[in-house]
Amino acid sequence: MSSAPFLPFALPDIGDDEVAEVVDTLRSGWVTTGPKTRRFEEDFAAWLGDPSLHALAVNSATAGLHLALEALGIGPGDEVITTTHTFTATAEVVRYLGADVVLVDIDPATLCIDVDAVERAITPRTKAVIPVHYAGLAADMQRLIPLARKHGLKIVEDAAHALPTTCGGRLIGTLDSDATVFSFYANKTITTGEGGMVVVRDEALAGASR
Ligand SMILES: Cc1ncc(COP(=O)(O)O)c(C=O)c1O
Repeated sequence: MSSAPFLPFALPDIGDDEVAEVVDTLRSGWVTTGPKTRRFEEDFAAWLGDPSLHALAVNSATAGLHLALEALGIGPGDEVITTTHTFTATAEVVRYLGADVVLVDIDPATLCIDVDAVERAITPRTKAVIPVHYAGLAADMQRLIPLARKHGLKIVEDAAHALPTTCGGRLIGTLDSDATVFSFYANKTITTGEGGMVVVRDEALAGASR
């Protein structure tokens, strides 16, 4: 009897260079956040190609989303709009801060947040919106950013799946939102095992997220 071939959920492409870097790290004696993390942050920001960006490595995108919202001052009494079609972390981080999650539907064309639905969901308590770029498709940021700014809302992009997604010819991470958060979980386009990166343009916000 032949058994069906095993189909892995996530099979990372780890070669000799990656193995050598890990061994080098273990031998260096510096196994917490240190010079290699800083190098990764600098390389990541340089790859995005905009010198005004700061990249901050974190242990997961969940932690990055949480930090970004906290640094932006989201807290009890606030509402944060996000989409139904995402991983639980996107909404969970809002609850960590005691704020209320407002879920809106997706646009069937992009599988990402429906900007008209965002507009209908805005109340005087709305403080932020978290668009999720889904599986390589970008949310309609060309409409969402001006809408959010018109209403004084912060924008934190959940870019867990969005390396290297583009929107209007620009890489996600370089748009005019407040923060963009990537995931390096095992099944993402690049992996660090677990991990993530927060990308921000504002120097003070970068300091607050550290
Ligand atoms: C859309 C989305 N947001 C956030 C996350 C959380 O990422 P992490 O596992 O790095 O915390 C994921 C994880 O798969 C995700 O798919």
